[in-house]
Amino acid sequence: MENFTVYNPTCVFFGKNIIQGMQKIISPLGRKALLIYGKGSVKSNGIYDAVVKQLNDCGITIAEYSGIKANPVIDDARKAAEKGRENQTDFIVAVGGGSVIDTAKLVSVCIKEPLDPWDVMKSKMKPRTNIPVIAVLTLAATGTEMNPYAVLQNPETKEKIGFGMNLMYPKYSFLDPQYTYSVPKDQTAYGIVDLIAHTLEAYFAYGEAQLSDRFAESIIKEAIEIAPLVIANPENYHYRSRIMWAATCALNGSTSYGRATSGDWGVHDIGHTLSMLYDFPHGATLSVAYPAWLKLQKEKIEDRISLLGKNVFGTTNAGETISEIEKFFASLNCPVSLKELKLNESHKTEIIQLLSKNKITGYNHKLKEQDYTKIVELMF
Ligand code: NZQ
Ligand code: ZN
Repeated sequence: MENFTVYNPTCVFFGKNIIQGMQKIISPLGRKALLIYGKGSVKSNGIYDAVVKQLNDCGITIAEYSGIKANPVIDDARKAAEKGRENQTDFIVAVGGGSVIDTAKLVSVCIKEPLDPWDVMKSKMKPRTNIPVIAVLTLAATGTEMNPYAVLQNPETKEKIGFGMNLMYPKYSFLDPQYTYSVPKDQTAYGIVDLIAHTLEAYFAYGEAQLSDRFAESIIKEAIEIAPLVIANPENYHYRSRIMWAATCALNGSTSYGRATSGDWGVHDIGHTLSMLYDFPHGATLSVAYPAWLKLQKEKIEDRISLLGKNVFGTTNAGETISEIEKFFASLNCPVSLKELKLNESHKTEIIQLLSKNKITGYNHKLKEQDYTKIVELMF
């Protein structure tokens, strides 16, 4: 096992009607809140009203920034930070999925000291201060509610990248599975693919960390067991809560302790390239890219893929394991090829070019220039 540090300062409140306890933690944070949310799901499922009531009951002045899109863009972070500065915001309340919460986390380090969010993401500026973020999660997928990362895209430079620092952990996260009842079937499935992809990224890092392997395998088994049930029964509290907690645990550090790196992340970077080019939902890019990446890397990491297969699917070799993963994603109606996402031959070159321009490699089993063509072929 490698040396490691465990640091996770996020206080998570999980469960039914947990929002009603928000008042207790609000007052010490200040008098002015910036409320950030997406395109409107928060208004139709009731969580917006529930959160605003909590803030009003504490006499908090609210400024709002809404309209954050899925696959969030840096321009919204800039405008939200500006709004935060104008209103002398003391803390941020982010209500939504990964796109909203990621934007809020980045904004939180660009307000007190006025920094450009893209400069921060590109490590040209290092934030020294933040304002607290309260995350109210409405979609089980990314794990952003209990980690320090934000992933945003910049259409001008054609990059979708991740960035993280300790100042960006949410101070509090509220996870009430009831507010995920309204997540549509496709987004529910993408979230499940995403959480499995996070555990796989960790699993394919270098270093021996058996307990972390077992956590990862258990999270994948939990997701596979619950997936068909939660999709068939979207308003079942028990299923929604199990998938929500699995998604949080898949990227809060517990699958990585003792490994040499936090994960490979090559598949995520391929997925981000596809989202950057075509605005595909994050999970849909992963259900295409993961099987392709595993096929490409099969010879190199045969033992790891086989171990995963033995412990999760009861398979006896790497090929069968990859096939089980692909079948599982397809069983959730997630795409497993770019053709299913309506791409054709004519798109191949621009994908290869962007992979190359943005130097997509992953951290462990690094992709080389000649791999780009192969992986794009495998994704078709
Ligand atoms: O905009 P609204 O109207 O809120 O609709 C959203 C959006 O259209 C909708 N939605 C969210 N909660 C809902 C709901 N619809 C009905 N009921 C609800 N309760 O779902 C759509 C997708 O939302 P989004 O926030 O984009 O989804 P997700 O949570 O999957 O986040 C994806 C983003 O997170 C990044 C991804 O790259 C992507 O940009 N990631 C962040 C990570 C992190 N911070 O650690 C790690 C991940 O690997 C990932 O890269
Ligand atoms: Zn992801």
